[in-house]
Amino acid sequence: MSASLDLRRLTTPQDLFQAAAEEVLRSAADAITQRGRFTIALSGGSTPRNLYTLIAANASTTLPWDKMFFFWGDERHVPLTDPESNYRMANETFLSKVPVPPANIFPVPAENQDASAAAQTYEDTLRKFFALQPSEFPRFDLILLGLGPDGHAASLFPETAALQEKSRLVVANRVEKLNTSRITFTLPVLNAARCVAFLVSGADKAAVLHEVLEGNAPGEKYPSKLVRPNKGKLIWFVDRAAASQLSTAA
Ligand code: 6PG
Repeated sequence: MSASLDLRRLTTPQDLFQAAAEEVLRSAADAITQRGRFTIALSGGSTPRNLYTLIAANASTTLPWDKMFFFWGDERHVPLTDPESNYRMANETFLSKVPVPPANIFPVPAENQDASAAAQTYEDTLRKFFALQPSEFPRFDLILLGLGPDGHAASLFPETAALQEKSRLVVANRVEKLNTSRITFTLPVLNAARCVAFLVSGADKAAVLHEVLEGNAPGEKYPSKLVRPNKGKLIWFVDRAAASQLSTAA
């Protein structure tokens, strides 16, 4: 892990979500002041639920929602109404509770039976929104990520093909152990971000967090190790339970 690691240790999960919410709001304010808009890629899974709920409860009237644009760093290959959908989770806990214009929300078209086509469509959406040149990558203001128990981030699972992708923005990634394809940002997109923030909570993540931050295994085995923004910040929000196997002093 890079020496400039920004490891933010919080005591309880609630402290973690509060600190992460403050970072989201600070990032949004800075981006809108400097560039007139805020672009964020949301993460899925269960950890960010409480973050989204907290933001919706505390910022629904204070933010310039019309200048905020929401994407997803990965999505399950299911309809948006499916209980497994990352879009559905974020919409239920957050986006349906704040006055963000629907046109500012860009779900992955995961209802498409062809995962590769869904990935290509989403890539086209990114290229158009960010007005990218052919070899350019989008520079999100903030990308939120969780840490999977196997060290995956987004849907970049250990030893899967997407880890090798160097030019595409979004791909369908076959995850044999889940017997499914996931639609995911590639590493170049994650590493082009102005800021990437991992949220890691709970004792069940302690071993993998130690491996990712302090272990010597290759990134292909713990893909979160490969998330190192080229010209951006990398922040790890961890609670005490998740940090319990880290050797660094508290
Ligand atoms: C997903 C997420 C995935 C998640 C990690 C952690 O689609 O599930 O994008 O990368 O962030 O698996 O998940 P938890 O927060 O549920 O532990």
